[in-house]
Amino acid sequence: MAAEVVGNKKACVVGGTGFMASLLVKLLLEKGYAVNTTVRDPANQKKVSHLNELQKLGDLKIFRADLTDESSFDAPVAGCDYVFHVATPVNFASEDPENDMIKPAIQGALNVLKACAKAKMVKRVVLTSSAASVTINNLQETGLVMDEKNWTDLDFLTSAKPPTWGYPASKTLAEKAAWKFAEENDIELITVIPTLMAGRSLTLDVPSSACLGMSMLTGNEFLMNALKGMQMLSGSISIVHVEDVCRAHIFVAEKESASGRYICCAANTSVPELAKFLNKRYPQYKAPTEFGDFPSKAKLIISSEKLIKEGFNYKYSIEDIYDQCVEYFEEKGLLHV
Ligand SMILES: NC(=O)c1ccc[n+]([C@@H]2O[C@H](COP(=O)([O-])OP(=O)(O)OC[C@H]3O[C@@H](n4cnc5c(N)ncnc54)[C@H](OP(=O)(O)O)[C@@H]3O)[C@@H](O)[C@H]2O)c1
Repeated sequence: MAAEVVGNKKACVVGGTGFMASLLVKLLLEKGYAVNTTVRDPANQKKVSHLNELQKLGDLKIFRADLTDESSFDAPVAGCDYVFHVATPVNFASEDPENDMIKPAIQGALNVLKACAKAKMVKRVVLTSSAASVTINNLQETGLVMDEKNWTDLDFLTSAKPPTWGYPASKTLAEKAAWKFAEENDIELITVIPTLMAGRSLTLDVPSSACLGMSMLTGNEFLMNALKGMQMLSGSISIVHVEDVCRAHIFVAEKESASGRYICCAANTSVPELAKFLNKRYPQYKAPTEFGDFPSKAKLIISSEKLIKEGFNYKYSIEDIYDQCVEYFEEKGLLHV
């Protein structure tokens, strides 16, 4: 079905070079939006060539902006109806998460919101948060259902400092700072909270989150361990197609009645359950079958009920997500029988 076309609407996407942001730019252009997007280095062809391609679809302007540079968002945000703040610093191997991720993520959220406050005509700001700002805690119970009321336990994260703690801390603190600023400055903010995103990417590089989700089929040991680490830290392996995440961003921006936080998650599973599913569906790629004493079940599920009740329909099931990823990874030569 052809997308509904909007008349004379303009949106800004912060961080256009990224996996999700570039697809969001494409979907907005296909809907008839004029789009301003920001990138850190417009001269970096490797990072912007897919955006140059998208300029054939409609009115897409590329601006230089950095999360740490307050005034750099004034020009791209000016005249926009909606602003999508997607960019975030990601450096899982960082030895200084405070300066590499936490401070720039908070500063970036505030800088984008300050530009929106100045611009006056911005109707809504949609910020991309993460399930990492919802599910991380030290609870030992199982069978938990996490929803938008839940927040990651920052005291636990910053005292226990489990591996990769800087990323969830940055996402939680940036989302909290954004809510505080929006309330104090009367900005209509909505946050979308995706789980692990997979699917085809417009970028030249295959995104790291798709590689993580596919690790049991590619056989990448490091990423398989990271996937196990994700289940141990976050409580589950919860997955969603990147296009559904983009559709959800546009849906909550346009839907008058939408407000607050929205989890966007298509399926909840665990590493051993996912391996079983993958082995059955793609036996040729031989996902692992032995997990020793690794927890076979997830500690929790992440509920997307609020988004569904608002009227959102997911396009991709877990089967669809993996069928597309297998095809994509085969084309990229990343799967070997
Ligand atoms: N991927 C997932 O599984 C997942 C799951 C849940 C939530 N999320 C959230 O979804 C959003 C998009 O994720 P993604 O995987 O699509 O991201 P991505 O591909 O890793 O892209 C990150 C983007 O942030 C930009 N960025 C980093 N530091 C910046 C800075 N100082 N100033 C300006 N831009 C900066 C990068 O620009 P450069 O190209 O210049 O580096 C890049 O465009 C993020 O907010 C992420 O936290 C992702």
